[in-house]
Amino acid sequence: MDQQEPKRERRVRYKGTHPKAFKEKYKELQPDKYSDDVVKIIQKGNTPAGMHRSICVNEIMAFLQVKPGQTGLDATLGYGGHTHELLKALNGSGHLYATDVDPIELPRTHERLIGLGFGPEILTVKHLNFSSIDQVVTESGPLNFILADLGVSSMQIDNPDRGFSFKNEGPLDLRLNPEKGISAAQRLKAISKDELQGMLFENSDEPNAEVIARAIVAARRKGHGITTTTELKQVISDALKFIPEVTRDQDVKKACQRCFQALRIDVNSEFEVLYDFLEKLPAALASGGRVAILTFHSGEDRLVKKAFKQHLREGLYREIAIEPIRPTVEECATNSRARSAKLRWAIKS
Ligand SMILES: C[S@@+](CC[C@H](N)C(=O)[O-])C[C@H]1O[C@@H](n2cnc3c(N)ncnc32)[C@H](O)[C@@H]1O
Repeated sequence: MDQQEPKRERRVRYKGTHPKAFKEKYKELQPDKYSDDVVKIIQKGNTPAGMHRSICVNEIMAFLQVKPGQTGLDATLGYGGHTHELLKALNGSGHLYATDVDPIELPRTHERLIGLGFGPEILTVKHLNFSSIDQVVTESGPLNFILADLGVSSMQIDNPDRGFSFKNEGPLDLRLNPEKGISAAQRLKAISKDELQGMLFENSDEPNAEVIARAIVAARRKGHGITTTTELKQVISDALKFIPEVTRDQDVKKACQRCFQALRIDVNSEFEVLYDFLEKLPAALASGGRVAILTFHSGEDRLVKKAFKQHLREGLYREIAIEPIRPTVEECATNSRARSAKLRWAIKS
């Protein structure tokens, strides 16, 4: 019989000891199998591929004061690091709900938590946008504690297929839920120069918003599609050629960070859903219930601060954070992603 051997998929191997591409980091992507290697990476102050290191864990736990028997919500499950801490604090009694919009990472995290012994009697995971927190409350009743750790996880940023980072070649997608809405590439296909300029400025305070918006629209007119992360980076870099060489590389990097962030906020309607969440929070909390929100840029922080202040004035909260709590110097030194974090909290009347 002329039967061909099925072709065996070979694991992607990396050359040398310092893999750069996400798919080559097979050790980091299997922390259960290569735990020693993963520990070494964390000790060096890096985040292993496919993992997320939770930020301000001690500060969040100290504020939320979770007790056995309580009901709470982790609105942004991510890798489940905070969820795990909250579950440990419940110590087997009470219930934790956890939501996330990401249909790719959510089942992985849920499976990991089930593997750690947290079944449906203590944990309910829902694929849901936190703007629909009222749907959770219909099932859970008033919540004693709520946590939201906004933005993106390291798994999402590091995976080039998701298009979140200009450092890796990938489709320009940037959606937290790629099954819904339109990608950033599709958004750039139709947007006017003025709208794009406004988006870059309002979402990320981009100082060169006009120059970059003009360059993107001009590239499109010339038939140069901007469909990948590196294509967008190139257009931004070309638009900023006027910057003196001494600072150009650094300035282009910062502009790319801001532009990718602005697009991410736009395609995920991040300000709109955060606003809805903040408006629904007081009704979701039980009397004396506590909410903690971790933000990563000034736009988010402004919205949280404003909503907390307004609801304090209206008597819905009895106390709010006057100043945000910042991660310790030690945490920032061992996890660079913590540097921009601000933690705000409120207590329901
Ligand atoms: C910074 S990560 C959370 C990390 C998590 N606290 C941990 O310890 O692993 C943010 C997560 O929030 C999710 N997310 C962002 N916006 C959301 C929204 N509107 N509704 C639900 N989840 C959202 C993202 O998909 C991502 O998984």
